[in-house]
Amino acid sequence: MANTTDQRSLGTQPVRWHGDRLELLDQRLLPTDERWITADSAASVAQSITDMVVRGAPAIGISAAYGVALAARHARGDQWQLEVEQSIDQLAKSRPTAVNLFWALQRMEKVFRACSALEEAVKRLADEAMLIHQEDIAANLAMADHALKVMNPAQPIGVLTHCNTGALATGGYGTALGVIRRLHARNMLEQVYADETRPWLQGSRLTAWELSREEIPVTLNADGAAAAILASGKVSWVVVGADRITANGDVANKIGTYSLAVLARYHGVGFMVVAPSSTVDMALAEGGQIPIEEREGTEVREIRGIPLAPAGVDVFNPVFDVTPASLIDAIVTEKGAVLKPDVAGMKALFT
Ligand code: MRU
Repeated sequence: MANTTDQRSLGTQPVRWHGDRLELLDQRLLPTDERWITADSAASVAQSITDMVVRGAPAIGISAAYGVALAARHARGDQWQLEVEQSIDQLAKSRPTAVNLFWALQRMEKVFRACSALEEAVKRLADEAMLIHQEDIAANLAMADHALKVMNPAQPIGVLTHCNTGALATGGYGTALGVIRRLHARNMLEQVYADETRPWLQGSRLTAWELSREEIPVTLNADGAAAAILASGKVSWVVVGADRITANGDVANKIGTYSLAVLARYHGVGFMVVAPSSTVDMALAEGGQIPIEEREGTEVREIRGIPLAPAGVDVFNPVFDVTPASLIDAIVTEKGAVLKPDVAGMKALFT
């Protein structure tokens, strides 16, 4: 894992495994409260994912993997295999869009199927979950290397990012935010513009929190200000993460990503997607096939119980959108970068 990087520079890791329980930093309460909740069963991990205690595609996958390990610890008697299977099904229903969840569960299920005794399953499933966690951190560090080679800045640059793709969304360090950390570490970062990311406010509550506590220069902006920022010439790259990338290079990511890609193309600004290969779903041909989660209208109508709109007004709240590959300049994973992604470029790196 991160042999060359100390724990501090990985950022605040949101998932802590204690062998018999998982601790999750409750991301619903940041930035005002730093509270950890304990999940000691697969059911409580699944609920934490649905409720967004833990969020971000890689962190969801990692948490679900630990959830399967917890299922094995709680399983008893002749029915232990059935109990683990039921927990895997329950975890798979926790959120629909980020493919990392299903990728991690498939990996755990493969290990589970290879175990003939419960005791063996308890150990091997915990080991596999820890490996998934460690590999995610290593992938993030590798992605930052690849991304900087693509950007190759001659002088410090401005970047704009959307949602939260930092340590909080991953095993540690971050995907797009990992690239931003690396630019900063190399003195190649002038300024980060962080979209607040309505309606859940991952940008203002999480990204601005992560960057400011590490003294990385960040300016928070309302999502609607992104066009003016890109028009100003202060930004060279828009850098975002992903929840699912299809075989043709289409990318599902936080709602509002698509409009940023259109803006970036219009203004001649680079548009980079940074994600581990566990986010790539080569089984889907194109982005229209990705299930897009819609969440409660209250997330738009209210903030922490404070009404922002007429009670009961109809709300459309898709929490992801799909950016067509044609608007993307680079998809960067730990395996390398696909420039101007299309079917051939994706196939060359991911099969
Ligand atoms: O709804 P969320 O907060 O889980 O959505 C998160 C995002 O869309 C991130 O951009 C994506 O998961 C990449 S995180 C490295």
